[in-house]
Amino acid sequence: MISLSEKIEEYSERHTRELSNLHQRLWQETHEKTSSPGMMVGPIEGALLRLLVRLTAAKRVLEIGMFTGYSALAMAAALPEDGQLITCDVNPETSEIARRYFASSPHGHKIEIKLGPAKETLKNLQGPFDLCFIDADKQGYGAYYDACIDLVRRGGLIVLDNMLQSGRVLNPADPASRIIAALNDRIQRDERVENVLLPIRDGIMLAYRR
Ligand SMILES: C[S@@+](CC[C@H](N)C(=O)[O-])C[C@H]1O[C@@H](n2cnc3c(N)ncnc32)[C@H](O)[C@@H]1O
Repeated sequence: MISLSEKIEEYSERHTRELSNLHQRLWQETHEKTSSPGMMVGPIEGALLRLLVRLTAAKRVLEIGMFTGYSALAMAAALPEDGQLITCDVNPETSEIARRYFASSPHGHKIEIKLGPAKETLKNLQGPFDLCFIDADKQGYGAYYDACIDLVRRGGLIVLDNMLQSGRVLNPADPASRIIAALNDRIQRDERVENVLLPIRDGIMLAYRR
């Protein structure tokens, strides 16, 4: 039997502007060829990210955690023709899938992949970015947030995924949820941002850089 929350998710998806046919093919291939397809943000969060790129009139976007490219493709679709999205990942196999899909997309030319540990990549990046999306290893989140605070422009947005850790932040007992719960507390106290934690999917923190 499908639960009420699954029915609501399905209903919300049917009332959310769809991404692209390419996204559907990428969704399918990621399920067939990778062991953790659940890492993709999915159609609702993908559409939200695309809308946030539009609303911030972003020209430069930074993504930390690309996987097979689902969220990068969603955000790139809202960038202008001369926009740029820099995306970081460490996994060469999943990055190869992403590369192939970017090559088939009319927005692929806007995307630049940086393969390697994000902490190293971030040291060599020049801001300002209009929007930064953090969706990689949870151990790195604190450092990624600090780097993004410096790289994002004032009036820009930092978006962090998985900030509820399937509810484990309420009583954090494992290393990842302890890190995320501590970061939620830190962002809440950080006067440099105006933040909201959305209880959508696994929790999306929006932090507007003042
Ligand atoms: C949750 S997935 C990203 C999902 C992607 N945003 C999407 O919607 O399809 C997290 C990604 O972070 C990458 N990752 C893990 N540790 C990393 C690191 N130290 N530097 C860069 N990327 C890393 C993983 O290889 C994985 O592809």
